[in-house]
Amino acid sequence: MQPGKLYNEQRLIKVSESSRPRWMDLESIMVLRRAGVRFMDITDVQELHRPYDSITDLTKEEGHLEYKSKLPQELLQGKNVAKAVSLLSTELYGKVLEPFTAFHNRYYDSENGRKSSEWLQEQVEQLVTDANVTVTAFKHRFPQSSIVARIEGRDAKEETVVISAHQDSVNQWIPWFGRASGADDDGSGTVTILEALRVLLKNGFKPNRSVEFHWYAGEEGGLLGSQDVALAYKNDGRKVAANMHFDMTGFWLKESKEVIGLVADRTDAETRNMVKSLAEEYTQLRTKEFLCGYGCSDHASWNSAGYRSAMAFESDKLDANTYIHSPSDTVETLDFDHMLEFSKLAVAFAYEVGYIADDA
Ligand code: BES
Ligand code: ZN
Repeated sequence: MQPGKLYNEQRLIKVSESSRPRWMDLESIMVLRRAGVRFMDITDVQELHRPYDSITDLTKEEGHLEYKSKLPQELLQGKNVAKAVSLLSTELYGKVLEPFTAFHNRYYDSENGRKSSEWLQEQVEQLVTDANVTVTAFKHRFPQSSIVARIEGRDAKEETVVISAHQDSVNQWIPWFGRASGADDDGSGTVTILEALRVLLKNGFKPNRSVEFHWYAGEEGGLLGSQDVALAYKNDGRKVAANMHFDMTGFWLKESKEVIGLVADRTDAETRNMVKSLAEEYTQLRTKEFLCGYGCSDHASWNSAGYRSAMAFESDKLDANTYIHSPSDTVETLDFDHMLEFSKLAVAFAYEVGYIADDA
């Protein structure tokens, strides 16, 4: 067996807002990973990243909002949200996660990663019965595709709400061949939003803004899939109202307080505050902000592209789940009831942000 096609390439890696990106080979990138450095691979998306010396306020890692969409000032979708939430169940979580985590790994630069992506697309397609909903594969320069399910909005303004998770997994010691079940990271987010999509469609969801569900490829390679998508949307002049990302929703330490963690860096304060209100109104949990670090996850790609973003996480403790990126990240370690609270949040986000009308 050969390592993936991209093994011998030099890649341009950025590890913080204020540092100059550096060319590195994949072996050196793996050393970074194991040291816990959260990076972005910006090789193919350099337009997304401003030159490091143009940033004046280095203490502020919120980035620069270029498209300021209208967010709900009050929550008006209580009835719809309650009805959709009453349809949520944990059944789909297990049904999808069992085969999804049975792929040897879901590494983006491998046949496994391609197959797991095709399989996930079929699961999404099976939920769709409505002609207003399309499911497409967004192709990248590596074998794994991102998956996009789009619910067409009714307004002409063509704003899009993006709810997301990442589909890939990695064994951080042997990325190409190692076992990476990726149940929590990020099988949990994958099924959290899949279940939200299921009940929205069951509930006759007809938003004003278009609402898209994204399952990104190659997050573990340095946010590759989401940066490709965010750059394509930006270049197309697409108006992305906000991104709400779910990376790891299933694991929390029972001796700690059960909360919804909200990433405070590379996200937008107004969106975070709204998500806080959504959690208070529609879930049993309260939010707690924490810092995740530069690369962290795909919300950062939308942030780099100048759009609003937020990211919900299973706890306020970054290092609680020590199983991730190894064969020990299994379904048995997940708390499906905990994950339900995140599906509620996704449903509430879709209604409250998606139903704002053109003239709101
Ligand atoms: N899900 C993790 C990020 C994460 C881990 C957030 C633990 C909060 C707590 C994500 O999939 C990941 O592993 N990211 C990498 C960085 C990426 C750009 C290679 C990481 O954190 O090392
Ligand atoms: Zn990860």
